[in-house]
Amino acid sequence: MTERTLVLIKPDGVQRLLVGRILARYEERGLKLIGLKLVQVDRQLAERHYAVHREKPFFDGLVEFITSGPLVALALEGPNAIAVIRSTNGATRPWEAAPGTVRGDFALEVAQNIVHASDGPDTAEAELALWFRPDELHSYEREIDRWVVAPGD
Ligand code: RTP
Ligand code: MG
Repeated sequence: MTERTLVLIKPDGVQRLLVGRILARYEERGLKLIGLKLVQVDRQLAERHYAVHREKPFFDGLVEFITSGPLVALALEGPNAIAVIRSTNGATRPWEAAPGTVRGDFALEVAQNIVHASDGPDTAEAELALWFRPDELHSYEREIDRWVVAPGD
C-alpha cells in the first residue's frame, strides 16, 4: 500500500554532515521525495511533535536537543513507506540497531540517534500536517516508477 511518512534528520545529523548520505539511502531505496526543508524548530513545535512523550523523564532533554540547531524535514512516499523507513533507520537504541541501518552505522546514544520517523499511518498523517503545509507537499510522476513500483501499487 502506498504510504506517506515524515522523517526528521535531527540536529546531530546536520551537524555531523550526514544529511546527504542519509537522504541517499531513502532515495536509492526507491522512495519518492515529496517534501524537503531545513527548519530551526521552536519550542512550541518541538513540544507538539513529541507530545506523546510529555510525561517521560527524557522529555525536556528531547525538546532541548531537537531545538538546538536546524534539522531537515523530509516527506517520503512509496509502498509500505512507514515500515521501510523504520527498518532503514534501525532500532531506537543505537546499540540495538543492526549494522547497515542509519542508527546502526552512525549513532551510539539514544538521545543522539540521528533520525526520527513516523511510527504508523495515523502518526504519519498528523506529523506531516504538523511539519508541512499542504502546498509544500508535491505530487509528481517519476519515469523510474515503472521499475520500482509494481503495477497498480
Ligand atoms: P523517533 O520517534 O525519533 O523516530 O524514535 P523512535 O520512535 O524509535 O523512539 P520513541 O520511543 O518515539 O522516542 C522518541 C525519541 O526520544 C528519545 N528517547 N530517549 N533517554 C531515553 O531513554 C530515550 N528514549 C527515547 C530518542 O531520541 C527517540 O528517538
Ligand atoms: Mg517515535
